[in-house]
Amino acid sequence: MADPAPAPLARVVLGVTGGIAAYKAAELARLFVKAGVAVDVVMTEAATRFVTPTTFQALTGRPVATDLWASGASNAMDHIAISRGADGIVVAPASADFLAKLAHGRADDLLSTLCLARECPLLVAPAMNVQMWSNAATRRNVAQLAANGVAILGPASGDQACGEIGDGRMLEAQDILDAVVASRVPKVLAGKRVLLTAGPTFEAIDPVRGITNTSSGKMGFALARAAAEAGADVTLVAGPTALATPAGVDRVDVVSAAEMADAVLARVDRSHVFVAVAAVADYRPAQVHAQKVKKKPEPMTIALEPTVDILATVAARAKAPFCVGFAAESQDVVKLGEEKRRRKKLAMLVANRAQDAMGADDNEVTILDDRGAHALPRMDKLALARRLVGEIAARLPKR
Ligand code: CTP
Repeated sequence: MADPAPAPLARVVLGVTGGIAAYKAAELARLFVKAGVAVDVVMTEAATRFVTPTTFQALTGRPVATDLWASGASNAMDHIAISRGADGIVVAPASADFLAKLAHGRADDLLSTLCLARECPLLVAPAMNVQMWSNAATRRNVAQLAANGVAILGPASGDQACGEIGDGRMLEAQDILDAVVASRVPKVLAGKRVLLTAGPTFEAIDPVRGITNTSSGKMGFALARAAAEAGADVTLVAGPTALATPAGVDRVDVVSAAEMADAVLARVDRSHVFVAVAAVADYRPAQVHAQKVKKKPEPMTIALEPTVDILATVAARAKAPFCVGFAAESQDVVKLGEEKRRRKKLAMLVANRAQDAMGADDNEVTILDDRGAHALPRMDKLALARRLVGEIAARLPKR
């Protein structure tokens, strides 16, 4: 099985070109350092008009290179030496001018020369005015760079420093770091469409009250992220949660179990894999009051009716995708999990203790399949998600 964890990142070259987003590159340098990555910053002359080399030197604890003609420790070979042994060159921000230069293979300053002479991957995070980004010349340059195998990160859309609004904002530093890590994950789910459910559901009693549970959605969102990192086309059907949508994931927000079932059933036919992580309510109020229910002195009873079992419904279809369930059990985790797996006819079920898993940042699970029970060590939910993606990929039918 290919290891679905990202290849380790030991050292990157961070290229900074001239643009107001250069101030965000300082935060990116800090995040790399915090993640244990050595950062060699190379600035263009224009970049130094926005942020000083001293800022980056202080953040990275390493010298900052700006000059093609400085004969440093490498006997005037800095233009080649700096990128040797690096895990990648990340240019953030990448100005319109720098993208043009890269697209044409020009090498007239230290950073462009390093990019041309590199052996490692090159990732660029464009940052520019919306008109510059949409200009035909930039479109052509970006298409050329993508065709040359350069990874284009973003840009995002929104308010710009110039006062205009639109595409061209540099991605936030954390998003760039996440994208660099994602680029190093083996693409074990390339070409696969993965559908997931995550989070709780909310079953209304009246306009302001309802029945829900303590699911945070973290495990399902981590799995959606890990599947996208592994190259899958991912759709995430999410119950009510405040979590941010992972990069590259198509999100469908729903509230109730019935809405979640509709959203899943509308998309399941085109999916290769269905992973049901949501804590779907098993019952909902039989009657939803149109107006707020008023308080009365006597005890109150709410009649409940069962909801549809989304996972069992999908798994029972004639052409079912590869179905993965989760089982939250408060006792006899493996025994009850295996009974659930057989009852719902699942190829794979991830069993855990409900009291440990719900809302926590880490989890300890046992994978159940036709060959038996496979216990995994406790790990944080993203590491676990990446591991589970590898386990799913290894179990998929070969064709
Ligand atoms: N599930 C579902 N639709 C439901 C209930 C559960 O798709 N209406 C899925 C969950 O997403 C999970 C699996 O079924 O992948 C098992 O959920 P769990 O709550 O552990 O089990 P239940 O089937 O609800 O059984 P019980 O509550 O009796 O343990």
